[in-house]
Amino acid sequence: MSELNTDFLKQSFPALSGSQVYFDNAGGSQVARHVGDRLVEYLYTANVQLGASYPASAQAGQMVDAGRAALAMLMNAARPEEVVMGATSTQLLGQLAQALSQDWQPGDEVVVTNFDHEANIGPWVKLADKGIVIREWKMPHSAHEPDLADLRSLLSDRTKLVAVTHASNIYGTINPIPKIAQAVRKAGALICVDGVAYAPHRAVDVQALGVDFYVFSAYKVYGPHFAALYGRYEALLAAGNINHRFFTRAKVPQKMEPGNANYELAYACTGIIDYLVAFAQEHGINMQGRAAIEGAFDVITAHEERLSDRLLDYLRKRTDATIIGAPEADHMQRVPTISFTLADRNSRDVVEAVDPTGLGIRYGDFYSRSLVEGLNLPNADGVIRVSAVHYNSVQDIDRLISALEAA
Ligand SMILES: Cc1ncc(COP(=O)(O)O)c(C=O)c1O
Repeated sequence: MSELNTDFLKQSFPALSGSQVYFDNAGGSQVARHVGDRLVEYLYTANVQLGASYPASAQAGQMVDAGRAALAMLMNAARPEEVVMGATSTQLLGQLAQALSQDWQPGDEVVVTNFDHEANIGPWVKLADKGIVIREWKMPHSAHEPDLADLRSLLSDRTKLVAVTHASNIYGTINPIPKIAQAVRKAGALICVDGVAYAPHRAVDVQALGVDFYVFSAYKVYGPHFAALYGRYEALLAAGNINHRFFTRAKVPQKMEPGNANYELAYACTGIIDYLVAFAQEHGINMQGRAAIEGAFDVITAHEERLSDRLLDYLRKRTDATIIGAPEADHMQRVPTISFTLADRNSRDVVEAVDPTGLGIRYGDFYSRSLVEGLNLPNADGVIRVSAVHYNSVQDIDRLISALEAA
């Protein structure tokens, strides 16, 4: 496959017409025009309360349902009711912990990692207040791939759930979720996967992964500031109700959406599919629906590997650079979220020297605080992170390399 069609990308992402180069995409991506169009369509044609008997209300309800169906298709959920919509992944994971723990007893156990974003650690750790025992699956020293044997040693017949990330927002490495899910299932526990750092780069397939819960943030996948939590139907059905007191557990997924999700943002998510289908067609894949999504992400994966390769090649050659994560671009191993440090340089100083060049990179712990603290980088202000997505070009990376040289 040749380079991506940059005219198409510029038409699809209005923000790309400006001079800013976006390399903080793991923090939030640019939004596709298709998404903005859907958002405006909802607000201008369907902005009524749902659930009433007048036709406009029913039509608005169908539009919100279409948003849920789009999010289900993005994750390959078996049915739309398996999607809980909400403002952010952090909030959805907090709600999930609240719902599941209604049935847990003191002495029950949860496994969290020290390499996740805090969003998939904190809500579970807080359950210690209820007597839930928290076990920590630690990354082996100086590694960026967790050891499955370590996880197995933490599982017991009291384990209720394992919370783990699909791709690290620091290392960029992809964890072997199908294998992890298998081990967790064997122990009779549930698995909750944070897919936030993975979903912008690959077609998520919750059924192939074999997970119970999976969360991602639409605003990092070219969509609006919104998030979705997949729950395997039976697992959602069994969870407690966190909505109005008179909702029953059978009210899936509304029992998990207190106060309702934002309607216009839900409908705007249909624009993510519109964009991916248009992207696929623009790159020679004449398919619709899920097949188009998978085709689009295949093209995206190949392009992103080229971007990673260019930057990692530069960093590998720099004797003062330490790559935090897989040093190779292999798309089976990593996404193009690349973190590094420079010897004797403060990460913040480096990033601030790059800022005036119009290349938006970033330093810090990115709320993966246990992970970054474990790296033991005194006075470094965390790592330098360059997080690319498919609308970045090889030329963008070359500009960044020049800026890093100058910095
Ligand atoms: C890996 C990862 N998980 C979770 C989150 C939290 O997402 P949200 O902002 O939707 O709560 C982030 C945000 O940066 C993230 O990078």
